[in-house]
Amino acid sequence: MSLSHQQLNTLATEFGTPLYVYDAAHITAQYQKLTNAFAKTDTKFFYACKALTNINILKHINSIGCNVDCSSINEVKLAFFAGFEAKNILYTSNGIHFSEIEEAQSLGVHINIDSLSNLEKFGQKFGHSYPVGIRLRPNIMGGGNLKVSTGHDKSKFGIPVDQLDKILALVSQYNLHIQNLHIHTGSDIKDVDIFVKGIEVLFDIIPFFKELESIDLGGGFKVPYKDGDTETDMPLLAQKVNEAFSNHPNPNGKHLQVWFEPGKFLVSGAGYLITEVNVIKENATTTFVGINSGLNHLIRPMFYDAYHKIENISNPAGSAKKYAVTGYICETDTFAWDRKLHEVREGDLLVFYNAGAYGFEMSSNFNSRLKPAEVLVKDGKAQLIRRRDEFEDLLKNQVL
Ligand code: LLP
Repeated sequence: MSLSHQQLNTLATEFGTPLYVYDAAHITAQYQKLTNAFAKTDTKFFYACKALTNINILKHINSIGCNVDCSSINEVKLAFFAGFEAKNILYTSNGIHFSEIEEAQSLGVHINIDSLSNLEKFGQKFGHSYPVGIRLRPNIMGGGNLKVSTGHDKSKFGIPVDQLDKILALVSQYNLHIQNLHIHTGSDIKDVDIFVKGIEVLFDIIPFFKELESIDLGGGFKVPYKDGDTETDMPLLAQKVNEAFSNHPNPNGKHLQVWFEPGKFLVSGAGYLITEVNVIKENATTTFVGINSGLNHLIRPMFYDAYHKIENISNPAGSAKKYAVTGYICETDTFAWDRKLHEVREGDLLVFYNAGAYGFEMSSNFNSRLKPAEVLVKDGKAQLIRRRDEFEDLLKNQVL
């Protein structure tokens, strides 16, 4: 399911370019895939909103019954602003000052703590009074590339599982109420066995936590970027998770809920970045297509060598040629080399697919360029959900 060329052309005419467009129906359909696959498992899904935090997206996520995972206190505040209840907000912190954890506690949200130091401070301040989760580093290599791999033995994320004795010492010293154990091994994980490996690591540790109510396997489900790519097989994952649970009944006799924190899976395919061709430059070996966007709007191709499918929606019947699609930033911001596109002319509209996750969210004003507008298509209507930056926005916080 995707928006048609015609719809995207119409939106570009109405709202201008560059433009981020999101399709609410796609998000709903992805969420239903998760809930259908895990219908027989007691699961709770928290949308990892670091992928895309526009309030209207958060409201949509809330309206379909999905919960939210936050990576900063400001994301927690945005979640409240969008109408989520505290019990449906999870704050998975990483490398933060303890004061942020205190603030999250005062707001009543679930918290995953990722360092011994903050766990100790939490124990000193709250003892057994506030249930809390621990983010563990399972020492598992998972994820599409090293930059998005977070569970391996050199990663900064979480408390290494080999420091279990130190965790247990703190739990006992401060009578901590450990409610959740969390791991997140990376992003773009297609192989469901990575999640199973994670569960196996947790099963070894679960017996030490008598008050545990949930295990949290993080996010990282793979989405298709290229034609022919497949996403993480959710029914298979659900089956394997269920098998793992039947093979390892909790020795404490307590039922454990399974939590997931999908980001990309919910919003990546829902997003489009529509751009316009500024210039075509021919040289001996390459035809460069220079568009009115760059790494300031979509950094994934430059930062992770990520592949984003691109289509020329102005000339879909043009003969196919190979191009280098480049940005207008004074850096080498190449979106794609040797990419076959229907013949591209100046003024044509090029659409980037999978722009919903970590697209706008990782954008910047580099080169004093303006951030694009965002539009949400929902129930057949297109609604502007963020106005395009204006020149004044560049000066907004500057002391003049
Ligand atoms: N939970 C935690 C604790 C995370 O750190 C992340 C992502 C997620 C869940 C959601 O992962 P997802 O389902 O979206 O893969 N900017 C990179 C991805 C980095 C993700 C960082 N953490 C990219 O554009 O590929």
